[in-house]
Amino acid sequence: MSRHFLTMASISIKSDDDIKGMRIAGRLAAEVLDFIAPYVKVGVTTGELDRLCHEYMVNVQDTIPAPLNYCPPGYTPYPKAICTSVNDVICHGIPGDKVLKNGDVVNLDITVIKNGYHGDTSRMFYVGEPSIMAKRLGEITYECMWLGISKIKPGNHLGDIGFVIQQHAENAGYSVVREFCGHGIGTVFHEEPQILHYGRPGTLDEMKAGMIFTVEPMINAGRREIREMGDGWTIKTKDRSLSAQWEHTVLVTPTGYEVLTVSPGMPAPPAFIKTAIAA
Ligand code: MF3
Ligand code: CO
Ligand code: CO
Repeated sequence: MSRHFLTMASISIKSDDDIKGMRIAGRLAAEVLDFIAPYVKVGVTTGELDRLCHEYMVNVQDTIPAPLNYCPPGYTPYPKAICTSVNDVICHGIPGDKVLKNGDVVNLDITVIKNGYHGDTSRMFYVGEPSIMAKRLGEITYECMWLGISKIKPGNHLGDIGFVIQQHAENAGYSVVREFCGHGIGTVFHEEPQILHYGRPGTLDEMKAGMIFTVEPMINAGRREIREMGDGWTIKTKDRSLSAQWEHTVLVTPTGYEVLTVSPGMPAPPAFIKTAIAA
């Protein structure tokens, strides 16, 4: 999410009740991804995926899709319930008539509101058989997200997260999108702090128990520059290279972190993560 969405001055520490509410919202967001996974197939339109998710949220979960009519300063209201970002779309792809074809890669980004609390998570999906190139980009990006999450602990700095993400992406020959970042989240969709996916260890704010924010690296196979589409939302790679993204909402605990956007169908963390759901 873009940094100019953020206007608050300080990073909130969540209460025990807030944390309970955020666990519920996080799980519900992840469960929408579990629900939609079997529908991501050759021939489906992004609009149909949106319709199915929207119905599931409203009718089954009794959640509110946070993107619908979301209108940060300088934007037009977002017209759909989810974001569907295909191939060279980095983020904020608007669902519509686009038919998914064999070899496409798509990020589905879900944000639900339950009892006022937001849960925000996204995954990559391969349509049919992915190219080796697309599969590798998706996997490296997944590792980037988890490497970043693994740095979450009181006393560590936000720059520690960005550093490991940038290092892993660039070592693989990829680039990190700079214009959009992770964000604090709670009863507000986007709040302080910004979570940059690049940076230097020991820089930026110190993490404290009770903070909740997303880690959502956007990694391009080619150059990092972006291009904004005329619809006011869709962001693509300038060089038309593939882009991937994964996102979790995470709580800073006294001893480390707890991923809040968990569900039965979520992919397992990479093998290097020992404490996937640290309490
Ligand atoms: N879910 C996105 C994020 O991770 C934000 C999407 S805003 C929308 O921050 F309006 F495009 F939906
Ligand atoms: Co987010
Ligand atoms: Co999101």
